[in-house]
Amino acid sequence: MNTNYRTHTCGELTIQNIHQTVTISGWVQGTRDIGYILFMDVRDRYGITQVSIKSQENPELYEEAKRLGREYVISVTGKVAERESKNPKLSTGDIEIIPQSITIMNPAKLPPFLIEDETDGNEELRMKYRYLDIRRPKMANNLILRSKVTKAVREYLDNLNFCEIETPFFIKSTPEGARDFLVPSRLNPGTFYALPQSPQILKQLLMVAGMDRYYQIVKCFRDEDFRGDRQPEFTQIDCEMAFVGQEDIFRTFEGMTKHVFKSVAGIELPDFQRLPYLDSLRLYGSDKPDLRFDCPIHELNELMGGTEFGVFNSVLAEEGLIACLNAEGCAKYTRKDIDKLTEMVKGWGATGLVWIRYNEEGIKSSVDKFYNEEQLRKICEKAGAKKGDMVMIVADKLKGKVRKALGNLRLHLGKTENWIDPKKWSVFWVVDFPLFERDEETGDLTFAHHPFCSPNAEDLQYLDTEPERVYAQTYDLVMNGSEILSGSIRIHQKEVQDKIFDILGLTEEEKQTKFGFMLGAFEYGAPPHGGCAFGLDRWVMLLAGENSIRDVIAFPKTAGGRDLMMDAPSVVPPKSLKELSIKLDLL
Ligand code: AMO
Repeated sequence: MNTNYRTHTCGELTIQNIHQTVTISGWVQGTRDIGYILFMDVRDRYGITQVSIKSQENPELYEEAKRLGREYVISVTGKVAERESKNPKLSTGDIEIIPQSITIMNPAKLPPFLIEDETDGNEELRMKYRYLDIRRPKMANNLILRSKVTKAVREYLDNLNFCEIETPFFIKSTPEGARDFLVPSRLNPGTFYALPQSPQILKQLLMVAGMDRYYQIVKCFRDEDFRGDRQPEFTQIDCEMAFVGQEDIFRTFEGMTKHVFKSVAGIELPDFQRLPYLDSLRLYGSDKPDLRFDCPIHELNELMGGTEFGVFNSVLAEEGLIACLNAEGCAKYTRKDIDKLTEMVKGWGATGLVWIRYNEEGIKSSVDKFYNEEQLRKICEKAGAKKGDMVMIVADKLKGKVRKALGNLRLHLGKTENWIDPKKWSVFWVVDFPLFERDEETGDLTFAHHPFCSPNAEDLQYLDTEPERVYAQTYDLVMNGSEILSGSIRIHQKEVQDKIFDILGLTEEEKQTKFGFMLGAFEYGAPPHGGCAFGLDRWVMLLAGENSIRDVIAFPKTAGGRDLMMDAPSVVPPKSLKELSIKLDLL
């Protein structure tokens, strides 16, 4: 059997190769028979090459080629010739192969959808037949891009003396705020491993171990509700350094981000701005605002009092928040448009939407009964509204609700009004996070990132009395409105870590069973350390210009957490469960 499958790939041949005898191998993209001549496109990962067979010159091969179906695996040997009508869209568009022989390596069933960038397959079908989906150039290129990103990451970190170290998947829970996936242990009946939500604790222990620059491109597992930018198993570029402060981390990973952009996309990013967390919430209603456009939130409390408008009066009495956006160019919105937006903001937790329309006819609003033109004009001034704009106001006694609703509305308007330049990149640090968050509705205190972030030294005095006043050395990197990195300087002193666990309400017993090994390790000389983790899938999604991380993952799960190709998760035989000492009521 011929093992010389190819001398060239299907993306390689150009006018330079004319008159050479070559062999290519790949899949039949399609054939076009125009009577006296048959054109065939052969595709592989690298591109598409046209093969053309004239019935008069090679009648046997012409007849044979007519029988080739889509996606047959073939190899073609022949001479490279200049094409009569060139295709500038293809790298091989100047040439074609005049074949001497065609070998069929494998026939193929008709694929269930078009293997082309513009496919007729819906996402479910594409996921069920992922191996066909990845033959589409768009998907293949996303995976190639992903590989280029990880290569550039390794290049950069290896240069800085980082050491790539693998950590185990069968561990004890590492909390990141989601539920754990559990794996039953056959050898230890009734006990379970947790799959890591991240290697957080392990990388900190590597710092105690003296491996002062660690990284790992690693799968993490989180049992949480899915969204377009979340998967139950996803990949982090996980990094940790010892003997560093925040500035060292910023320098190192800003440098890495720029290196990756430069090497995979030829883009030179400017230095990253830093936005304090509270400013981010106050101005954009989000801790990951998309700053490719502006449209900040304006607070209006001082302009809204002293009228008969009960709704706003009670918000002011309860020290809530009245705030607005200036929707530029949106005075054109009809009643129906506004009703739709009102429903949307209600879905984001707001009670309603008050509007002020500023157009040629003057200023009109949905609260004309309560506010006179002078008052409305002042609000417009504060919001920076000019003729043609619409001011959109939300109010609630819970400030967080107002900010969240306006943050979402801002993003919605940015997308629908085309305020976002798709060629623009917005990459910046969000800094100065509080150590804890309190749920405005339930009042519960929880960690803002994870319980290992180091409080600012000057805030330690408030730990016992006013934990919410304590800020942490924590940071995120936000790219085009997506959080692609999160990290912190860690606690490296046992007493401080102990105290944080106390504040979070862990009992002594819980502390020992969950984190005893870590607290123990801190007694053996833990160096000051810090680090971060990039969400690789999200980063590649943005670089690839995709909207979902599923499109940059070879074999992703559906929104319902299923692998449609393998049909997982699936029922297992009772025998397997018995071996694992698991009893199911379902059986
Ligand atoms: P965090 O939980 O913020 O931090 O995760 C780091 C980054 O991982 C990405 N990410 C996800 N991507 C896809 N699907 C998910 N379900 C998902 N969850 C998170 C995000 C996020 O910014 N141990 C800390 C990091 C550290 O402090 O060093 C951690 O895991 O892009």
